[in-house]
Amino acid sequence: MSSYSIDSLEQYFKVYRKSVNKPKKFWGKIAENNFTWYQKWDKVVEFDMQKAEFVWYKNAKLNITKNCIDRHLANRGDKKAIIFEPNNPDEPSRFFTYSELYTEVSKMANVLRDQGVKKGDRVCIYLPMIPELVFTVLACARIGAIHSVIFAGFSANALSTRINDCNAKVIITADGGYRGSKTVDLKKIVDDALNKTNTIEKVLLVKRTNQEIDFKEGRDIWLQPLLEQAETTSKAEVMDAEDPLFILYTSGSTGKPKGMVHTTAGYMVYVAYTFKNVFNYKENDVYWCTADIGWITGHSYTIYGPLLNGATTVLFEGIPSYPDHSRFWNVIQKHNVNQFYTAPTAIRSLAKERIEFVQDFEMDSLKVIGSVGEPINEEAWHWYNDHVGNKRCPLVDTWWQTETGGIVISAIPFVTPTKPTYASLPLPGIRPVLMDELRNEIEGNQKLGNLCIDYPWPGIARTIWGDHQRYIDTYFSKFPGKYFSGDGALRDEVGYYRITGRVDDVIIVSGHNLGTAPIEDAINEHQTVAESAVVGFPHDIKGNALYGFVVLKEVGLWRDRNNLYKEINQLISDQIGGIAKLDKIQFVTGLPKTRSGKIMRRILRKIAEGEKSDFGDITTLVNPEIVEEISKEAL
Ligand code: WT7
Repeated sequence: MSSYSIDSLEQYFKVYRKSVNKPKKFWGKIAENNFTWYQKWDKVVEFDMQKAEFVWYKNAKLNITKNCIDRHLANRGDKKAIIFEPNNPDEPSRFFTYSELYTEVSKMANVLRDQGVKKGDRVCIYLPMIPELVFTVLACARIGAIHSVIFAGFSANALSTRINDCNAKVIITADGGYRGSKTVDLKKIVDDALNKTNTIEKVLLVKRTNQEIDFKEGRDIWLQPLLEQAETTSKAEVMDAEDPLFILYTSGSTGKPKGMVHTTAGYMVYVAYTFKNVFNYKENDVYWCTADIGWITGHSYTIYGPLLNGATTVLFEGIPSYPDHSRFWNVIQKHNVNQFYTAPTAIRSLAKERIEFVQDFEMDSLKVIGSVGEPINEEAWHWYNDHVGNKRCPLVDTWWQTETGGIVISAIPFVTPTKPTYASLPLPGIRPVLMDELRNEIEGNQKLGNLCIDYPWPGIARTIWGDHQRYIDTYFSKFPGKYFSGDGALRDEVGYYRITGRVDDVIIVSGHNLGTAPIEDAINEHQTVAESAVVGFPHDIKGNALYGFVVLKEVGLWRDRNNLYKEINQLISDQIGGIAKLDKIQFVTGLPKTRSGKIMRRILRKIAEGEKSDFGDITTLVNPEIVEEISKEAL
């Protein structure tokens, strides 16, 4: 694949210019030279930005697992594809070569077929970060089933909503999962979720913790015995370029999560190309992305991107603080990791621990370090750069989204000079634009605006499962003809982009994308709550934390605040998951509202940030007096 790597700044500018002047030629060549196809395309791209319709590599036929696995067998059969590092450091690491990966994925694919899973069926995967998670994802892709991985930290309710949304037929889970010193009762959560769904025919079970579970005959099936008997080779289904590969849910500004759909060929080409360039991956490097496969980062840059490039990818089951805060650095030393990719929230939490935790480890193997998921603040950037990268490894701050499929703005290591807190320049094929509120494009540099992209790239999501209109409304309507990211950005004097954060009702907490609407829905379920509003406020470790303003139905119910506080957070945990819990809850007598009944969140945000007096124009409120009342009692 060396023909497609960028090795100098001069070359970057040349390639970039080509990619935007002749995108069809550019993406056609990359697809042509670096992948195996059953049949080539008739046209590289056809699109309509108003209708949000994108066809990449029209009529091409392929299977992504042929590209992730089979084609490496000749030259990389004995090369490690996966290094599995368990939660408990005393449990031995496990290794899977490309040949072994082929066997494991084939067996899993055959079992799924035997269980009646067919091309186009939706398969829900609710597993911890264990090798079977990778095998099932790839097995789905092998047989043409659409995988929908649900992060194993989500609650039963969140799980059932997602199962129902895509009518999944099969769910794959485990008896339980390890998470630091705790275990999570995954099977029990699935049982609860299935009480609220009726499309699941089979629950396939991996044994991980050996804990007791409720086994439902006829519905539940242990996978291991089936795998032991399964054939070790499997035919890959012939997929169309635009056949859906997976659905991955992301939060939105209404209670219902959005099932972002990614298709086969464009996604494959885009994640492979960006992986190679953003991490400067070289043969025999060991690459580690700490993200859970339940998020897009895990899909694109733990599984697909690395395997498409024949790389060795580390799969880590644990958490950064277990058994102590040196775990990441320990694993880097143990496996001689060359590229390390993690989130600012993890960096901030580790940076506040004793410096020996990081200094005690030999991390000379590192060549590139990366950041993703939220803006990385200056302090965290320097800590990461100085103590992990040793001021020697380029730090790539990669900006992208579930919707973009792969990284869209990032430095290229050893090519683009890095600048703290700046994601820097667009990758080839990406045309970012800044738009003002009047829908005009903001020209020139040193400008701040709404970050949009004005030409499609192969990895762009194709739709929201079952609701194309919502896809158009959310991403392609506010700035017609452009993809709107929902983020704000600053373009500096040389054209570098700095992401300033969300400009909508999504809050990024510890790198997790949370919509305020579903959290408010959960709070409002409490019998004493009349209404509520949730906003973010800056937090040292999480980046943002959540602040809830809650109006109770009767003043008399205010007495037992402590209990109420717990009950509200419990409701949020049940509905969404622990990640969405509120750090602060303030009980108020009303919320600032406009005449049309809209809550003025900008004021609540200021209050949550500690502002006491400067609230701007509040004359359009029906109840301006409430602002002083709330701010006086702010927590
Ligand atoms: C949102 C997308 C895509 C990977 C994981 C998150 C924020 C992501 C950065 C970055 C500043 C970032 C944005 C974006 N974000 N990377 N490098 N700098 N902000 O995917 O859950 O779809 O969230 O994460 O706000 O819109 P996601």
